Amino acid sequence: MEHQDQKFIEFKNIVKRFDSFTALDHVSLTIPKGKFVTLLGPSGCGKTTLMRQLAGFAEPEEGDIYIKGKRVNGLPPYKRNTPLVFQEYALFPHMTVYENISYGLKLQKIPKSVIDSKVAEMLEMFNLLNLEKRFPKQLSGGQQQRVAFARALIMGQEILLLDEPLSNLDAKLRVEVRTELRMIQQKFNITTIYVTHDQDEALSMSDMIAVMRNGRIEQIGSPWEIYFRPANPFVANFVGVVNFLKAKALKQENGILAVDYCGKRIGLHSNLEATQGANVLLVIRPECMRIAGPEEDCNNEVFLEGTIENYSFLGRVIRYWIRVDEETLILDDSNPDLSGSRNGKVRLILDQKKIHVLDCEDATC
Ligand SMILES: Nc1ncnc2c1ncn2[C@@H]1O[C@H](COP(=O)(O)OP(=O)(O)O)[C@@H](O)[C@H]1O
Ligand SMILES: [Mg+2]
Repeated sequence: MEHQDQKFIEFKNIVKRFDSFTALDHVSLTIPKGKFVTLLGPSGCGKTTLMRQLAGFAEPEEGDIYIKGKRVNGLPPYKRNTPLVFQEYALFPHMTVYENISYGLKLQKIPKSVIDSKVAEMLEMFNLLNLEKRFPKQLSGGQQQRVAFARALIMGQEILLLDEPLSNLDAKLRVEVRTELRMIQQKFNITTIYVTHDQDEALSMSDMIAVMRNGRIEQIGSPWEIYFRPANPFVANFVGVVNFLKAKALKQENGILAVDYCGKRIGLHSNLEATQGANVLLVIRPECMRIAGPEEDCNNEVFLEGTIENYSFLGRVIRYWIRVDEETLILDDSNPDLSGSRNGKVRLILDQKKIHVLDCEDATC
């Protein structure tokens, strides 16, 4: 990938204030060409504000924004090549699908034959064939969303900004449209910035996720990194169910960190350089532990002893709440035996490779 493609879009130290309130606090983010990048964070953390700076609907007090190496601060939206699709479908209700999709081209006085062939291409791409004469109210929510995408992309733009575009759809449709959207994005290599507060959406669609909080980026990484190697407890909590265990560091040796948890020595795959006796936090996802069989020999495993407090059947898994020492851990059993749930005292075998360790002094545990 060429240098410029690596830095297709760049935010450098963006600061945005509303009176005395700082909505964006030195945000830097680099987005490579053709990637699907998600801004993920709770409501009010600054996601929309960051998008608006890129689109040109607002100007930052500090910092620079580059698109394809060109500084775009001060440029009006139409000179930035960044169409925005917002959560409102934003279709013209009195226009047909054809008229909605072709609207931008028509304004540019493009010949009708060219418009017709481009619209046909879009209808095919977004699976809207034979719907061109319908009005928005005669379409399903998912179809309306696809028309909105087609309308944004027909202008030949290379960048798509999507701000919570699926939030008006019901849960099942959301999954369908997001799968479709991701396929189209990959097929046509459209650089996409996607805003959501939904961690499932972010994990399932993105090449890269930027987790935001209070106007700052807390972590940038692949979905795998964000989920299994969160930079701090906030990120760990925000992207899914997680267990935290407080432990003490013992020794770092060749990428294995030995820790002490309740008098038990546990070796974990971690490069964390923690001084002996330092507080560390073990980050354990519910699927990274399993309940040992009653007769199972656990001597070669790392295991904790606990007592099942509660469980809940979730379809894909049975979720257990298990008391271990002072903590209640959540464990998901994806392969529940047919006899049903277990109870009483159990041993929890830890998947050492998937346990992440955070430095407590750094991570404000
Ligand atoms: N035009 C504005 N005037 C004053 N405050 C604003 C304005 N726009 C956004 N904010 C504030 O900035 C913060 C970030 O907002 P926003 O970017 O919309 O959050 P998100 O999209 O992550 O939910 C919020 O606290 C919001 O109230
Ligand atoms: Mg928003």
